[in-house]
Amino acid sequence: MSYISQIDLKKSPKHIAIIMDGNGRWAKKQGHERLYGHNFGVEAVRETLKAAKELKVDYLTMYAFSTENWNRPKEEVDGLMDLLVRSIAGEIDELMDSGVRLMTIGDTMGLPEACRNELQDAINKTKNNTSISLVLALNYSARWEITNAMKQLALEIENGTMNSDEVTEEAITQKLTTFSIPDPELLIRTSGECRVSNFLLWQIAYTEFHFTEVLWPDFKAEDLYKAVLDYQSRERRFGKVSEQLT
Ligand code: IPE
Ligand code: IPE
Ligand code: MG
Repeated sequence: MSYISQIDLKKSPKHIAIIMDGNGRWAKKQGHERLYGHNFGVEAVRETLKAAKELKVDYLTMYAFSTENWNRPKEEVDGLMDLLVRSIAGEIDELMDSGVRLMTIGDTMGLPEACRNELQDAINKTKNNTSISLVLALNYSARWEITNAMKQLALEIENGTMNSDEVTEEAITQKLTTFSIPDPELLIRTSGECRVSNFLLWQIAYTEFHFTEVLWPDFKAEDLYKAVLDYQSRERRFGKVSEQLT
């Protein structure tokens, strides 16, 4: 029996974030270069997006390139940037047909110009789509994001347009690149690694984590359903005790 029949669609998470990991190991296992795995990873993104849409998820955030990933060999970084441009160009019609809004988080100004242009074009084209938002985390690092938010607040205080009492959780949230996006209820990481790797540190304060051994290129709709079922089996207490929850 498929896992989807067991999911309560009325209680689907509104926002799922995914650390797509294991492309390199997947490629290596089959005797290929790492980029071969990244290419197949795009297919898994396509399938996951479709499945998330069916589950009535509003936001799907995918960690596609971390600030730390610039430290990889140049050939791999160039290949990833090239893959990004080709994938966006290749998928834009499908994104439009299926009502997907493309968004990005992270320091996108630090991406190569070709990537920035392709992304901006796709973001503009899809901005009025309403079925699901696909949020790509690109050149993203949570510590960068928080530092950047602090700098903006410091500047406002320096300019006298804000005072220190106004530095609230809400004010900080508004300065993050995720400002318009609700916090994820569920975070999935593939490939058996059980760490956060500088992803959404502020936003995951009460997020449920699901770790799976599946390598990202092998990730299928069924794996997403499994993660959502796992999420639905949890009791989210937000600091309270069980009896206080209704
Ligand atoms: C995740 O797969 C994709 C990116 C980080 C861009 P990896 O490339 O990290 O694959 P592994 O972890 O080395 O197997
Ligand atoms: C996290 O994966 C970043 C992305 C999935 C884009 P990494 O493979 O880069 O993380 P570490 O190095 O294993 O922590
Ligand atoms: Mg990895």
